[in-house]
Amino acid sequence: MEENPAQKETLNEIIRSRRSKRAISEEELTETEMELLARAAHLAPSCFNNQPWRFVFVDKSAKLDRIKESLPEGNYWAKKASLIIAIVSRQNLDCELSRGRIYYKFDCGLAVENLLLQATNMGLVSHPIAGFDPEATREVLKIPAEFELITLVIIGKPGNPEELSDKHRKVELGEREREPLEKVVSKNEFDRSNT
Ligand SMILES: Cc1cc2nc3c(=O)[nH]c(=O)nc-3n(C[C@H](O)[C@H](O)[C@H](O)COP(=O)(O)O)c2cc1C
Repeated sequence: MEENPAQKETLNEIIRSRRSKRAISEEELTETEMELLARAAHLAPSCFNNQPWRFVFVDKSAKLDRIKESLPEGNYWAKKASLIIAIVSRQNLDCELSRGRIYYKFDCGLAVENLLLQATNMGLVSHPIAGFDPEATREVLKIPAEFELITLVIIGKPGNPEELSDKHRKVELGEREREPLEKVVSKNEFDRSNT
């Protein structure tokens, strides 16, 4: 499928401009801003409307500091976050269908994308990370053993790219990187050559 320049112009602007930015400032968010993020995430679709997502909002506190302390080196930039949102769920909160169609993480992903797009629309940086210490974070947030901590979303007001490592500054200011569309889209049947 060839990319049509005319279609580019009609891409939803918030989808187009969402980026996993890393330059954030320590400025805090308001309660209203945090509530808007939660409401946007909670409006996502889910299998049978099961709404398997549970969000733990962690703003300025000793707990936020403890999560930041446990972040790996590569996510140094997230230490400036004024808000970290933990996405928590459990398999049996959502559809478990034949052939391994287990939907709770899929539906949590939809909720996170809603959150990211809402954050983008509000001019905030929002960046999901898998690079965190699951044991330390679970302990800080008191997540019961039967729940999974799927991801953290780092949130903040935009900051200064000059404070990033050279590698990250280049990504921050560079073009979006994606596989060619024809690698991920096929027509009428699955294209094994794309795997
Ligand atoms: C589940 C998940 C985990 C991620 N983990 C990290 C991470 O630990 N550190 C990081 O800097 N970026 C992380 N990212 C961001 C991705 O690298 C980023 O989404 C990807 O490079 C595409 O860039 P874009 O979001 O700006 O389009 C993660 C993204 C997702 C969805």
